[in-house]
Amino acid sequence: MKNKISELLDHVEKFTSEKLEQVEEFRIGMLGKKGEITRLFEQFKAFTSEQKRELGKDLNELKTKTLEKINSFRELLEKSQEKTSGIFDMTMPANSEPVGTRHPISIMKNKTVEIFKRLGYVIAEGPEIEDDRHVFGALNFPPEHPARDMQDTFFIEKNPDILLRTHTSSMQVRAMEQTKPPIRIICPGRVFRNEAISARAHCIFHQIEGLYIDENVSFADLKQTLLYFAREMFGKDTQIRLRPSYFPFTEPSAEMDVSCKICGGKGCNICKGTGWLEIMGCGMVDPNVLESCGIDSEKYTGFAFGMGVERLAMLKWQVRDLRLYFENDIRFLQQFGSVI
Ligand code: PHE
Repeated sequence: MKNKISELLDHVEKFTSEKLEQVEEFRIGMLGKKGEITRLFEQFKAFTSEQKRELGKDLNELKTKTLEKINSFRELLEKSQEKTSGIFDMTMPANSEPVGTRHPISIMKNKTVEIFKRLGYVIAEGPEIEDDRHVFGALNFPPEHPARDMQDTFFIEKNPDILLRTHTSSMQVRAMEQTKPPIRIICPGRVFRNEAISARAHCIFHQIEGLYIDENVSFADLKQTLLYFAREMFGKDTQIRLRPSYFPFTEPSAEMDVSCKICGGKGCNICKGTGWLEIMGCGMVDPNVLESCGIDSEKYTGFAFGMGVERLAMLKWQVRDLRLYFENDIRFLQQFGSVI
């Protein structure tokens, strides 16, 4: 019997299970009517009192250990069953996570870039902290020239050569310095101007610059490209007009207007009664700019254009205050349901 007890003790110690049914089987095998331990207790009855003294303690210990094992496994498995059945209840309604929407500026930027990509333009991006050459010098702004006042500049203290770019036209210079024609790029980015913040002006805003340089690029190409863009963006019946303007880096220069979608060209308070909305500056790249970026102006010509993203979005959705774009008020942002 002594051997049998230690054999069973060993068996109890080694017992492990992941299922309640197995624990029950184990209990019946050990302590059931015909179980191993029950049988030992029956044999025990017939022992002499000396034998009983010798084996009683061991036999009781075997029984206690077996019960302990059974109870601990039952408890463990019952608990984990409760837990898993809670997690995997397929009938429970799901907790839906609130999904955000794209910022109107991002929607407009992506839409614009997408349209020019279809015409073969590739995205180019560059630094927001620039030097004078890329923002002004190479773009035909002579030093001390009053044209620099068109854009109020944030200079980095102590070094007037380093500044925050006032327009994405700096990317024209970088692209022409780094690649040979043909060049066809579209450059979205943030720009900075030292202006008082109001409903119509902000010191941080976004522009998208386009540049196309190749042999025989003409003003007609510029006009056709911009007409395509305007119709893709604002609808098939959109009209454009180009008004003469001035930028140091383009010659001739123009300002482009699109026909007002809101009044259909009749005149309303959005277009201030004119029937037209100004959306960008553009022109043929000045030969001086090509030369200062190492491009032969006898061989190549090109055009450039630049537009304000906030302005595009204002026109598209009739946003009347520029500051709304930067305040992160969820009631404003939630109105632009698109996730493009
Ligand atoms: N950089 C000009 C601006 O910020 C826009 C522009 C870009 C004009 C390219 C002509 C050509 O006002």
